[in-house]
Amino acid sequence: MPKLQSTKNLDFISRPRRNRKSASIRDLTQETWLSPKNFVMPLFLTEKNGAKEPILSLPGQFRYGPDLLIEKAREVLALGIPGIALFPKIPDHLKDPMGRESANPDGLLPRTVRSLKKSLPELTVITDVAMDPYSSDGHDGILSEGKILNDETLSVLGQMALVQARAGTDYVAPSDMMDGRVAYIRAILDQGGFSDVGIISYSAKYASCFYGPFRDALDSTPKTGDKKSYQMNPANRREALREICLDQEEGADLILIKPALSYLDIISLAKEVCDVPVAAYNVSGEYAMIKAASEKGWLNEKAAVLETLLSIKRAGADVIFTYWAMDAARWLAEQ
Ligand code: PBG
Repeated sequence: MPKLQSTKNLDFISRPRRNRKSASIRDLTQETWLSPKNFVMPLFLTEKNGAKEPILSLPGQFRYGPDLLIEKAREVLALGIPGIALFPKIPDHLKDPMGRESANPDGLLPRTVRSLKKSLPELTVITDVAMDPYSSDGHDGILSEGKILNDETLSVLGQMALVQARAGTDYVAPSDMMDGRVAYIRAILDQGGFSDVGIISYSAKYASCFYGPFRDALDSTPKTGDKKSYQMNPANRREALREICLDQEEGADLILIKPALSYLDIISLAKEVCDVPVAAYNVSGEYAMIKAASEKGWLNEKAAVLETLLSIKRAGADVIFTYWAMDAARWLAEQ
């Protein structure tokens, strides 16, 4: 026992540590809880039944053939996770500058959505609306003479959303960052009789380096240039506010911030100003960072992931898209 100074003269009343005294009290006073119910599991889809292709820069994640993807989605549900976000890898020979394959009702994505909905009707299916998986240029919009054409792209996005709605998707999720696309897609869905299909808008999507592993997964890296003329400048916060408010006015049912970790302030801003639920996408590069460090033994993966997801939730995300959804659901069940 070290020799201690007298503490007799200390008379403060506030002792925050009282609320940290025991595990039971810490539970009682915990402000934020993670639940698998708020997770969305992103899944990559490929053409061949039976396929389970590892993705080098996303260890533990695979591109699944349609049959195995349904089995994976069944596991997702069994873990208490309500939804999946689907990303198809389109073979090169089906890619063109206009992304025409995205409007094919018998394409890989709509086909798979139909069978998912048949086998697992209670699963929430979220489908991405953007041209990049289908575009031979690897951009989210139509490229012409070095420029991305906004208004011409809207009609491609509208048709893509309609095909996905017809296949039975619950939410279309425009991730393209074209101006006016939420209102445009809403109108097309409503005219098509799909007023119950929702829109999760990637409202504040930044031109981030953290999408690298995702682009490896889909082989969707832009062939020329970058995405800075449509995705947001990472330096901007007030611009995010503008994008979020516009999307809400245009009819978005949820708004999404992406990436999550370097943009926790934007998530918190969105939570303050939005009436609709706020989602955040814990993106591929964020996953890869912790995976790599834990493979090296420099971080404990479970602890790092749960702390990370908690921080996203604490910042204000109601819904978290994360490649760890299934692992985290298992870890939370163990706790
Ligand atoms: C495509 C899209 C991207 C992601 C989701 N939808 C990549 C991009 O914009 O280049 C990234 C997701 C991730 O990195 O996990 N519109």
